[in-house]
Amino acid sequence: MSIWCKKFRFTWIDGSLVECEKAQVHVLTHALHYGTGVFEGIRGYWNGENLYVFRLREHMERMLVSAKMIGFKLGYNVEQLVDATLEVIRANEFKENVYIRPIAFAGEGTISLDITSLPVRVAIAAFPFGHYLKPEGVRVKVVSWRRIPSFSLPISAKATGIYLNSVISLAEAKREGYDEALLLDWRGYISEGSGENVFIVRNGVIATPPVTASILEGITRDAVIKIARDLGYNVEERDITRDELYSASEAFMTGTAAEITPIVEVDGKTVGGGSPGPVTRRLQEEYRDIVMAKNEKYMKWLTPVY
Ligand SMILES: Cc1ncc(COP(=O)(O)O)c(C=O)c1O
Repeated sequence: MSIWCKKFRFTWIDGSLVECEKAQVHVLTHALHYGTGVFEGIRGYWNGENLYVFRLREHMERMLVSAKMIGFKLGYNVEQLVDATLEVIRANEFKENVYIRPIAFAGEGTISLDITSLPVRVAIAAFPFGHYLKPEGVRVKVVSWRRIPSFSLPISAKATGIYLNSVISLAEAKREGYDEALLLDWRGYISEGSGENVFIVRNGVIATPPVTASILEGITRDAVIKIARDLGYNVEERDITRDELYSASEAFMTGTAAEITPIVEVDGKTVGGGSPGPVTRRLQEEYRDIVMAKNEKYMKWLTPVY
């Protein structure tokens, strides 16, 4: 039995719900060999009354753009993917926080790098999920690997093959006793974490690297920029140097899995006072209220499941 099937009963694959054990692929699946896939990571929050999926439509829109960038035709539109997500959550009758993983990948048929003749398979799995990073704060290391530049791969696509860059970076950070990796871009400016965007606070101003710093344009990043501006903070999207990170009064990471995670240490140096700062805390509280459907103003970001 797959370890996953202890966590959920049904998966949506190629248009229908199947029992978890049947959601399998052959070892000669193209994507397994060449990283030919695109995916998403989405969260659903149970607030005691209903389960709300955060920015579901935006995630599915990004998945279709990612697919286009690597030359995939999914055969499903945003509405169909949104409906399929709700269908798989309902079938599993989840009443707790969940992580949703849609993936589209090149199937079986050839070992050639020419994917034009291959079927594109689409699956959506969902399972109970808690914290990804320590919510009280992480210690990060600027690793020796650089984030892949957009002149080598379409890095704004959330494509599976690109993640080897993240995997080896995180391994380096963990090997040296850190919680998370921070990658510089090809020019040497701050890019992002292995699976998160990065923000700093300096002189009361919030700053985050621009889309041109080889980042994945995070949906949480976008949400945090909007929330922070609505709270009256000044937010800049601009290049950030490594030493600005060292001298920042606060720093934090954002991502679907990471949500808003304070950075308390970089390369052995404490950030600010070495514990989450007031701006980070304020944003964490606001974000939590929003995803838990406690803030009317942002209800447009939530899709109720039941
Ligand atoms: C490399 C990378 N950067 C940033 C993010 C944050 O993106 P989002 O907020 O859309 O989850 C993720 C997670 O999906 C990621 O994998």
